[in-house]
Amino acid sequence: MPGAIYAEGLVKHFGDVKALDGVDLDVPEGTVLGLLGPNGAGKTTTVRCLTTLLRPDRGTAIVAGIDVLKHPDAVRRSVGLSGQFAAVDEYLTGRENLQMVGQLYQMRAKAAKQRAAELLEQFHLTDAADRPTKTYSGGMRRRLDLAAALVVRPPVMFMDEPTTGLDPRNRQQLWDVIKQLVSGGTTLLLTTQYLEEADHLAHDICVVDHGRVIARGTSDQLKAQTGGERVEVVVRDRGHITAAVEVLSGFGKGETTVEEHTRKLTVPVSGGAKLLAEVIRELDSRDIEMDDVGLRRPTLDDVFLSLTGHLAEEKPGESSEAEGPKARKHTKEPAQ
Ligand SMILES: Nc1ncnc2c1ncn2[C@@H]1O[C@H](COP(=O)(O)OP(=O)(O)O)[C@@H](O)[C@H]1O
Ligand SMILES: [Mg+2]
Repeated sequence: MPGAIYAEGLVKHFGDVKALDGVDLDVPEGTVLGLLGPNGAGKTTTVRCLTTLLRPDRGTAIVAGIDVLKHPDAVRRSVGLSGQFAAVDEYLTGRENLQMVGQLYQMRAKAAKQRAAELLEQFHLTDAADRPTKTYSGGMRRRLDLAAALVVRPPVMFMDEPTTGLDPRNRQQLWDVIKQLVSGGTTLLLTTQYLEEADHLAHDICVVDHGRVIARGTSDQLKAQTGGERVEVVVRDRGHITAAVEVLSGFGKGETTVEEHTRKLTVPVSGGAKLLAEVIRELDSRDIEMDDVGLRRPTLDDVFLSLTGHLAEEKPGESSEAEGPKARKHTKEPAQ
């Protein structure tokens, strides 16, 4: 039986651009799927297809047990969407925005009012509730956007890059809210550019690139595939790079990569802090001076590098954020 979110062979073209090239997904009820990928990978397009905002050229999608292509209205009533193109009207207050959403979903005025008050409380927005949302900070807007998606308590939620551009404190706050939400049994599909975010929130992760799912598994499985942790060393003297590569390669489980201009060397390892200490001793014994040395977990770039052979680089100017039917009065977020 398919999960709460199920897709098979989703294809979507925009003119010559193949945004989706056969996306398959299956998210069991009550779990969180992280859709992880760089800018332009097809994350938003996937979410828009699954939430009926876009019609795929080909493929099947079933959400909350309902066929998305056959019964889009029924799907719309069963899902919540929060994301990159915030549906918040900035001339209304936070409270008015939430009440308006309730009324759009045909709640009675009194019920909509009560639900709005509950959500404002839950998202720490009570103090700002009666100010126009254009005065809100980026973090407050995201929380309001998320609250708006929760007005009708949907069994299935979609969040498109909920924390992109937020500072660490706001990101952490939003993660807490999301965790609370899914502990209540909501099925969630979340897109993100950050492995760390998927790590915190998702049971399973699908890595997408060029409109395809190129890897799937738990965060640990993906990291293991990319060769676990990295030792990173910045040598003081450019002339020592070759000798340092030799040392690192002796300890590493894979190729040592060198960034010449920053004198930074990186190698995948297993063995943690103990191994790091050995690396440092060995470099020391060869009089190779270091400006910096450390152990770090794989990043999205590492996952990409090992899966695709290329970095998950940002493509400047590529953004479909200001489009879509919900892109009303989309403005830049005020500084936080
Ligand atoms: N409305 C659109 N018109 C034309 N091209 C689009 C549109 N939406 C997305 N694309 C293109 O489709 C690809 C996937 O975009 P998107 O799904 O927004 O990626 P992501 O959300 O992962 O950054 C990109 O190449 C993007 O430029
Ligand atoms: Mg996107």
